[in-house]
Amino acid sequence: MCGIFAYKGDKKNAPELVVNGLKKLEYRGYDSWGVAYRTGNEIKVYKEIGKIGEFDIKAGNEKIDFSANCNLAMGHSRWATHGGVTKENAHPHYSEDKEIAIVHNGIIENYAELKKDLIEKGYKFRSETDTEVIAYLIEDHKDLGFTESVKKAISMLQGRYAIVVMNAHNDALIAARRGSPIIIGKGKNEYFIASDIPAFLEYTREVIYLDDNQMIIIEDEVRFVDLETNKEVKKRIVKIDLDAQSAEKGEFPHFMIKEITEQKETIARAINQDPAKIMEIAAAIKSAYGTYLVGCGTAGKVCLAASYHFAKIAKRHVNFAFGSEFPSLQDFITDKSLVVAVSQSGETADTLDAIEVAKKKGAKVLSIINVEGSSMDRISDYKIYIKAGPEKAVASTKATTAQMAILTLLAYACAGKLDEGKRLLVETASRINDMLNPRYEAHIQKLAQQIKDWESIYVIGKGQNYPMALEAAIKLQEVSYIHAEGFAGGELKHGPIALISKGTPCIVLVANDETKQDILSNAMEIKSRGGYIIGIAPENNDVFDYWIKVPESGNASPIVNIIPVQILAYQLAILRENNPDMPRNLAKSVTVK
Ligand code: G6P
Repeated sequence: MCGIFAYKGDKKNAPELVVNGLKKLEYRGYDSWGVAYRTGNEIKVYKEIGKIGEFDIKAGNEKIDFSANCNLAMGHSRWATHGGVTKENAHPHYSEDKEIAIVHNGIIENYAELKKDLIEKGYKFRSETDTEVIAYLIEDHKDLGFTESVKKAISMLQGRYAIVVMNAHNDALIAARRGSPIIIGKGKNEYFIASDIPAFLEYTREVIYLDDNQMIIIEDEVRFVDLETNKEVKKRIVKIDLDAQSAEKGEFPHFMIKEITEQKETIARAINQDPAKIMEIAAAIKSAYGTYLVGCGTAGKVCLAASYHFAKIAKRHVNFAFGSEFPSLQDFITDKSLVVAVSQSGETADTLDAIEVAKKKGAKVLSIINVEGSSMDRISDYKIYIKAGPEKAVASTKATTAQMAILTLLAYACAGKLDEGKRLLVETASRINDMLNPRYEAHIQKLAQQIKDWESIYVIGKGQNYPMALEAAIKLQEVSYIHAEGFAGGELKHGPIALISKGTPCIVLVANDETKQDILSNAMEIKSRGGYIIGIAPENNDVFDYWIKVPESGNASPIVNIIPVQILAYQLAILRENNPDMPRNLAKSVTVK
């Protein structure tokens, strides 16, 4: 949520480099953007609403002078929290005297009180943001010098932040974090500061992860400071092996379809884990006095599906809560509990908050994450990387199925049947490989053509496929903007069936198991009321008006059943002329509560 990118080094085209880096972070927020750079003893700030790198000249906006000889710049792509989507609210923000500029990712919880105090002192604000308050606080303590005034301002903040600050008087660049990511890329005589690695991947693979309550000060020398002790700390440089290519679209028109297609490999990669480690984690689940699966959005739906797996495969009751709801359940957490946090980014604020709550109670934390080095990675007792590679489209696809695969494997491991689980998932991965082909996509595109103008789509599932019905609905909502809802098939007759009229598209997720007859009966109930039944199932059935075949896959059916819906959502987005990679109002990494 909000992308930050800054550069200081030998290259003389810093503003251009920053704009290009921001484009790689666009998935983190894309309602507005801006860049600041220093020329002479002045900081220039450019801001725009809309697509990164495009200037609305007609609106009288200037273009950034890319020919300026400048080796220090910073930029921001925004997902609005405090204040609407306006040029004034876009970052970077100046201090009142314009001698400080700041970019920020996070939320300052006490900004209103701080702002009130500053207004009483006579400061006049230009935006509605919480961020601007930080710049003004720094200005208010400028007598302390640049570094100390930033430290002082930070000490007054409550909430989460990742900030980068520059000043008009020298070439210093300062960044600090608490709760939102800051990753530093180290090149030869140059430093990159970013919310995520793809921003600088083309320049360096050497990274330094800033931890919470740490600050980096880049002047002639580079220093790291622990803000709690005010002492300098040494940081480790980590070599990462992400390849720049995997973070690009390549031959695909959108990241979303690229990432859907990558599921040919990602599921097999995800389950390729050290068996000893999986057994160790399974033992931790079995010995925990209460295991809680926690995640948000799609990851939350994966957790809910996994709770069915643990019940069915491992005969274990495992609880589930959305990250934002977990604190309300905290009274049940003890130092014998285990919290399993599931997250693609490892940065989702509500999930991090749940982890914090659990840790305060002494519980152990297992994170199932995609992004190595992320906040969750750094604070968890156990971790499993899903190894899906960078996921850039806002709507999660390949991370979803990789998370599902790992949780299925863990359920089998808890049942003492790791090899059986692995065999099932390896076979499923290979069947998905066969399934994902242009003919299959064309079959789904034909359906998309048929239903693209409907106002609502409903999805039903039962058992392990009920959470997937919820996930299917999210996928459709996110990128097609068609109203979509998922239900447990059996719940329909208690209310939602009143929504069905002639032709209403209803997707039915079917597994070849004990739930099959019931869900087909539910489909029949809808059909009898005029609904148009789209069956996603291993076998055809008379009740289906449109059948999308999926491979028979036993307990892996939630994985195979969600893939056709991902493709359908993508096709609907294209037909409705939406950008599937950057749906309106959303952001990939939600680092605010
Ligand atoms: C956002 C994304 C979703 C994702 C959710 C949780 O809403 O758009 O795709 O499922 O955040 O993100 P996480 O990184 O924790 O999996």
